[in-house]
Amino acid sequence: MPLRNTADAWGLVSRAIHWLMFALIGAQIVVGLLLEDLPKGSALRGFAFDAHETAGVVALLLVFARLAWRASNPAPEAQGSDLVRRLAAYGHAALYALMIAIPVAGMAMVDLKGHQVAFFAWEFPDLLPKNEALARGLAEAHETLAWALVLLVAGHVAAALWHHVALKDRTLARMLGRA
Ligand code: HEM
Ligand code: HEM
Repeated sequence: MPLRNTADAWGLVSRAIHWLMFALIGAQIVVGLLLEDLPKGSALRGFAFDAHETAGVVALLLVFARLAWRASNPAPEAQGSDLVRRLAAYGHAALYALMIAIPVAGMAMVDLKGHQVAFFAWEFPDLLPKNEALARGLAEAHETLAWALVLLVAGHVAAALWHHVALKDRTLARMLGRA
């Protein structure tokens, strides 16, 4: 099984990062939505915040790795008409932008609240001066952008299924490694 992409197939590395990030981002959204409901001061709350922050930073590192891999290893040619391919390119660019903006907003929000961002057993240094108002704004942005990602992924899944069922091309099959 080739590791690198070819002109018409995704290699193992691209597929593994795509599906790993799908699982990671799905878990981030579920855990993120539960965070504020956990009892204040409980060990579970502290652990869940640390886990959400750590996994979010991992997701950010993975998206940079993914973009670097993509730059050194071009994506297979998109399938469909010119319009479909252009829409897919804009949609994918927007997915990448959100995958970067959401964790960056999360990290800045935590820092501006006066906390240190957790990363496994370590903590990031305190980089920004405490600013509650800006932290609240970024919390709003973090949440709104996360909902925008959910909507865009819904459209992305619909597009993948539409390629498969209506256009009957190999778009979905090749991301699943079945083509
Ligand atoms: C792909 C990455 C991420 C996704 C998809 C994500 C998603 C979410 C979602 C959906 C919420 C619930 C929002 C709400 O109801 O207010 C949330 C809350 C939160 N997220 Fe993230 N997040 C990510 C990364 C991060 C990172 C990297 C940090 C910090 C280092 C972070 C810190 C927080 C905090 C502290 C909350 C608690 C709610 C708040 O204070 O507003 N997140 N996240
Ligand atoms: C968090 C969820 C997801 C995100 C952020 C995401 C993101 C992306 C991105 C950015 C690309 C473009 C890759 C590139 O050109 O570099 C892509 C491709 C693709 N995704 Fe997803 N994806 C997600 C979930 C899914 C799911 C659930 C499906 C299946 C139903 C799916 C099916 C595909 C397919 C088939 C492609 C290949 C498109 C092509 O060959 O042109 N994705 N995804």
